[in-house]
Formats: sequence, C-alpha cells, structure tokens
Amino acid sequence: MRIQTKLSNCWIRSWEPDDKLNLVQNANNRKIWLNLTDMFPHPYTETDAEKWIEVANKPTLRTHLAIEFEGIAVGGIGIIPDDGVCCKTGDFGYWIGEPFWGKGIATAAAQAMVDYAFLNLPFARLQACVFAWNPASMRVLEKVGFVREGVLKQSRYKDGQLIDSVMYALIKEEVVDLKQKIVNQPTANKWMDKLVGSISDEATFLEALDYGRSVRQADKSSS
Ligand SMILES: CC(C)(COP(=O)(O)OP(=O)(O)OC[C@H]1O[C@@H](n2cnc3c(N)ncnc32)[C@H](O)[C@@H]1OP(=O)(O)O)[C@@H](O)C(=O)NCCC(=O)NCCS
Repeated sequence: MRIQTKLSNCWIRSWEPDDKLNLVQNANNRKIWLNLTDMFPHPYTETDAEKWIEVANKPTLRTHLAIEFEGIAVGGIGIIPDDGVCCKTGDFGYWIGEPFWGKGIATAAAQAMVDYAFLNLPFARLQACVFAWNPASMRVLEKVGFVREGVLKQSRYKDGQLIDSVMYALIKEEVVDLKQKIVNQPTANKWMDKLVGSISDEATFLEALDYGRSVRQADKSSS
C-alpha cells in the first residue's frame, strides 16, 4: 500500500525490510517512547525493528504503516481495532523521528490515514488517548478534525508517573455520511474534495467539519 499525503514529498505506505536502519535511528528516542504505550520498546534495537516490520505486514485487522518523507521512513502511523462491543472503534496512533518534527508531517500523515480508514475500514469512530503532557499531539489531532472529548484522570502510568490523558475522537458519520446533508451548501463541495485529498487547505476542511457537526446537532435538537 502507498498513499500520497497532502505534502508532495510525504507518503504513508507499508513497512519494508529496507526501512530497518531508519526505523532504529528514528524510533530509538526516549522522547518518543515517553508519549507512546509500553508496546513501543526503548531502547529500540535492530531486532525490535526486524520484528516490527514483520508484524506490521501480517494480514490482520490492524493497520500499521510507515510515514515516508523525502524517500525515507521517518515515523509510523497505525490503527488498532478495539474488540467486543468496541469493535467499531479504532485506536489511532503515530510518531515521527525528532529531526523531522515541526514540518507538518504528522498532520499530513494523520489526515491521509483518516481518509483511508473511513473509506476502506469498518470503523465508526477513531480515537486517540493523548498523555496530558503532549500538547503537540493534541494539536495534530485538532488539525485533522478530532474533537477533545474529555480528560481521563490518572488513567496512564508512564515512566513511573501517574498522569491524566485526554481522549480525542473523530466520528465517521461526521466526516463522511454527513456530506449528503450539506451537499447544497457553499462549503460542501470543497469539503468532499478535501476528503479525497485534493484540497490542501486545512482551514476549509475544519470549517466544513464544524459546519457538518452543527447541522447534525440542529437535526438532533429538532427531532
Ligand atoms: C506529536 C508528534 C507526532 C508531532 O509530529 P510533527 O510532525 O512535529 O507534527 P506537525 O508538524 O504536523 O504538527 C505539530 C503541531 O504541534 C504544535 N506544537 C508543537 N509543540 C507544541 C507544544 N509544546 N505546545 C503546543 N503545540 C505544539 C506545532 O506548532 C504544530 O502545530 P501548528 O501547525 O499549528 O503550528 C511528534 O512530536 C512525535 O512523534 N512525538 C512523540 C510521539 C507522540 O507523541 N505520538 C503521539 C502519541 S498520542
């Protein structure tokens, strides 16, 4: 799989055996580990990288992709389905190698992954639980349209510290199905174009998404 993001030099794609050294170089960073679950190893060794590339390519309901920037794998992005009664929810996660922070890569990758997931995977909801000390990740999610749903107090224990986390979610109905309801509105066509990746303007997308949410809210209130 290989999907272009809105950045011309950035793709999300399957992990490849040749990514091993770049994976170790970018992933072996305490600042990254500190913001992820304990599934993510630290230190991050070549053996970890080999295992990861194998696991990521297994045909399961999990989706794990590399984030490629200027020809090299600089990070990872994925969605893990919840189980049982939560099976329509996907847990959304990503990381970027530190030398590449602040270039809009996570935002571009997250947007491409959301579009891919809602068009191809059976999720009604994508969610990400961000550690309270990670405002950069919250900003990424907000730029992609996720909504901050609330604070889960003392819900995470990382690096010997008990911390709050913040639940962010994006609902498929709001992103995709609602287009039927706003199709005649001024922002609707731009919004749909954005969904298939042809508009690079985040503000237009977020404006349309907010508009869609307000239409839904009004519909609910009047029914
Ligand atoms: C969080 C992370 C993925 C961001 O990657 P990135 O490619 O730098 O993200 P982007 O450049 O797309 O966007 C980052 C945004 O956060 C903002 N930001 C960065 N540091 C911030 C801070 N301390 N407080 C508030 N906002 C901050 C940036 O200004 C930018 O927003 P802007 O475009 O409005 O200016 C990266 O730092 C990372 O991998 N961290 C470790 C792993 C991690 O946190 N994963 C997510 C787990 S939920």
